[in-house]
Amino acid sequence: MPIISVAIQKGGSGKTTTTINLGAALQRSGKKVLLIDADPQANLSQSLGMKEEPDFNLYSEIKKEITGEGSDIKKAIVEIRPGFSIVPASIELADAEMELVSVYSREQVLSWILKPVVNNYDFIFIDCPHSIGMLTVNALVACDLVLIPLQAEFLPLKGVQSFMRQFKTIKKRLNPKIKLMGFVLTKFDERKKMNHNVQEQLETEFGSKVFQTHIRTCISLAKAQEAGMDVFTFDKNSNAAKDYDKLAKEFMDKLEQ
Ligand SMILES: Nc1ncnc2c1ncn2[C@@H]1O[C@H](COP(=O)(O)OP(=O)(O)O)[C@@H](O)[C@H]1O
Ligand SMILES: [Mg+2]
Repeated sequence: MPIISVAIQKGGSGKTTTTINLGAALQRSGKKVLLIDADPQANLSQSLGMKEEPDFNLYSEIKKEITGEGSDIKKAIVEIRPGFSIVPASIELADAEMELVSVYSREQVLSWILKPVVNNYDFIFIDCPHSIGMLTVNALVACDLVLIPLQAEFLPLKGVQSFMRQFKTIKKRLNPKIKLMGFVLTKFDERKKMNHNVQEQLETEFGSKVFQTHIRTCISLAKAQEAGMDVFTFDKNSNAAKDYDKLAKEFMDKLEQ
């Protein structure tokens, strides 16, 4: 507990990067963390060094759940190191978008799948795909909190407003307990006026829901992903390691508020 969806429909916002490195920062502070790769592109799985698709993955368990066989999520969990584990994706996960449409209680499938392990972790993060399809809806129904990374370079407000409409509908109809945890600005350059403008606009609309910690643009993040590691393992002295550590602290403070 809790389950956090890392979501926004725009690609390249830093969802996967934030899932990995916020997760890693929390694990390094002593928390037990599980990451769920709910994106058929499997960037999260690959970025943590999984080169081959394992037999058991998120898709295999969704499939078993919807065919009535019953899922066993524990089989699909891969431990990266003690306290840091992942449920990998596979390319077939793209089929789940269609397959879920026609099943009974289609929005709740991921909730049921995760139930047996919810109490085994301090935090479960779900890395969502770029669309608000069945996989994202399942993540939003399964979670307690939503974290939205946004690239500070573009004016993201339009996308945010459309995401928030979906969020409100899901809160009203399917998951009343869901809460917006906040927005994290990524690829931030303190010298760029545009980046500060984006922050101001977000704060005008969402107030304290905007994290004060910025994730600066840092090449180590991409290099770490290429090497199949989180940024702390790759280069613990990088700006990105410092920023994600700071974000983890602010994240914990926000949870306690
Ligand atoms: N703070 C950052 N600095 C530099 N590159 C970043 C940063 N955050 C993410 N990236 C890079 O940007 C790309 C998109 O990020 P990613 O986390 O995959 O976004 P999403 O999951 O929202 O599509 C990746 O190649 C990643 O390495
Ligand atoms: Mg991603």
